This record gives sequence, C-alpha cells and structure tokens, in this order.
Amino acid sequence: ITRALSSSTGRNAAIKHVTVIGGGLMGSGIAQVAAATGHSVVLVDTSEDILKKSTKGIEGSLKRVVKKKFADKPEAGEEFVQKVLKNISTSTDAASVVQSTDLVVEAIVENLKVKQSLFSTLDKVAPEHTIFASNTSSLPIADIAVSTARLDRFGGIHFFNPVPMMKLVEVIQAPGTSQETFNALLDFSKALGKHPVSCKDTPGFIVNRLLVPYLIEAVRLHERGHGSKEDIDVAMKLGAGYPMGPFELLDYVGLDTSKFIVDGWYQMEPENPLFSPSPLLNKLVSEGKLGKKTGEGFYKYK
Ligand code: NAI
Repeated sequence: ITRALSSSTGRNAAIKHVTVIGGGLMGSGIAQVAAATGHSVVLVDTSEDILKKSTKGIEGSLKRVVKKKFADKPEAGEEFVQKVLKNISTSTDAASVVQSTDLVVEAIVENLKVKQSLFSTLDKVAPEHTIFASNTSSLPIADIAVSTARLDRFGGIHFFNPVPMMKLVEVIQAPGTSQETFNALLDFSKALGKHPVSCKDTPGFIVNRLLVPYLIEAVRLHERGHGSKEDIDVAMKLGAGYPMGPFELLDYVGLDTSKFIVDGWYQMEPENPLFSPSPLLNKLVSEGKLGKKTGEGFYKYK
C-alpha cells in the first residue's frame, strides 16, 4: 500500500524509513503500526531500559492483535509478529539514526523547550528531504517548528490512544507547512491504515477542541450539583451513544493531562469561558488523584 500511495504526493517519494522519538504510550503505538504496515522503523528513547519495555509492550500488543486476526492460523500469526518486530530497531541516539530517515515522528514529553531542543539538534543532521512531525496534543506546531530551518518540511501528525486501535489521525498544516509535506503526511497516515483528517494549527485541532471543553463542562455540571458523576456518565452513554461517560473518559485520559491541556488554552485565551479552570479538577490533581493510572480519579480503581 505504501508504494501505491506515493503517486498522489507529486514529487515526494513515499515514506519508507521512519524514526519515532519517544517510546512511551504513543511512540510505541506509532512504531508498532508503522512496522506492521511494512515501514522500517527506528524507535528512540533516553535509555536502553525504557526501550526494552517499549519493545516488550509492542510485542504484547502485536500478540493480542494476532490472536484475533489469525485466530485459526496461530503459526502465521507468530510469523507476522516476528516479521513486524524485525522492522523495528531501537536507539538512544536520535542524531545518529536520522541520517537515513524519511520522516521523524516526535512523541516525547509535552514540553515546548524540550521538543524545540530535540528538533533543533536533528535539523542540523537530518537529510534535506526528511520531514519532521510532532504528535503534540496541545502545543502549536508552529512554535515547535521555529526551532528548525525546515518550516516547509514540518507538520503535525496527531494520533489517538491506543494507537493500534484508533483509526483517526489528525494531520496538521501549520502556516509554514508546504502542501507537499502535508500531502506526504496524509499519505503516510493512509499507508498506516488510518483515516486522516486535515487540521489547521489551532488549539486542540478538531477532536480535543470539541472534546476537552465538553469533559470540563461535565465536571462543572457536577460541581453545580446538577447531576451525579454516575448519572452524567450513564446519560451520555445511553443518550448520546458515547462509548464512555465523561468522568470515565477523564479518568482514562488522566486528570493531569486534561488539566494541562485546558490550562494551556486558558493562558492563550483567558476570556474564553470554555477554557476556564475547574476547581474540582484542580483539587483532584493536587491530591494526586490522576485517574486510572494512580488507582483513583473521579472513581476508585482498587
Ligand atoms: P509518555 O510519557 O508515555 O512517553 C514519552 C516518552 O518520551 C518517555 O518514554 C520518555 O522517556 C521519552 N522522552 C522524553 N524526552 C525525550 C527525549 N528528549 N528524547 C527521547 N525520548 C524522550 O508520553 P505519551 O503519552 O506517549 O505522549 C507523548 C506525546 O504524545 C506528547 O506530546 C503528548 O501530548 C502526545 N499525545 C499523547 C496522547 C495520549 O493519550 N497520551 C494522545 C495524543 C498525543
């Protein structure tokens, strides 16, 4: 599929070699789907220990996929897992591995300075044609791109968690992103078997811009005493057809992550009532009740 899609991008050759930086939740998922669709992938993180965990996680996830997909052909399934794993190598030195890469996908910590410093370093060593893309959820792509001299070859590629399951990719065209780069990122997303949508470089792109204010408004509704968490969750599942209620989803995403996103937007647009802080959310975060990952958020998990 990768090859067939290249024709629509004009001058850009298909992306074959991908460097994924950050082997956490998102980076591991991105590396997995890229490798499973025949790309050669280098996964980069700060230590061998982290990378070992990432690789183990990818293997486990692939085995779950295979269990369903190759239910009656377990041998073919195992072969597939090994083939995909062969497409992934790891490194702790991004600068030394980008020499031969067509695309860098960055999925490191959500911190502007750290992302800028990484891209600024890579910009000096990566080949001319290499496209840089960030998976950031809340930072403007243009603010990250200014750390490089390749604004035209810099865009956003925003995946959803869990990456192997979620079909959507938001591809972000910043003011400096060339049409060619943007098309290459759309084609790459399709080559991963995903469904890309085109976004502008605005806070939250499409999904989070609509989803986060809704989630925070659910918290406010509850804070006003207008509904219990349980009733609000049931109401949105049975009445709006959402697979999870807002409190369940907040606990799943992480309360700290949600707060971080909305605080960032509040700083950018303090007059926008949709972005104003929620005292209850702030209180839970300050108590370390961050959701499923800490065993308690709006609900208890142990
Ligand atoms: P994570 O904390 O699971 O993983 C981040 C990884 O990056 C860690 O393994 C860390 O060791 C590594 N790292 C940090 N600095 C590094 C550096 N300078 N060089 C190499 N590796 C470095 O974080 P997660 O959740 O995977 O998020 C990564 C990015 O993806 C963030 O920008 C986040 O906003 C974005 N994102 C997160 C989503 C989510 O649901 N968690 C959804 C969509 C985007």
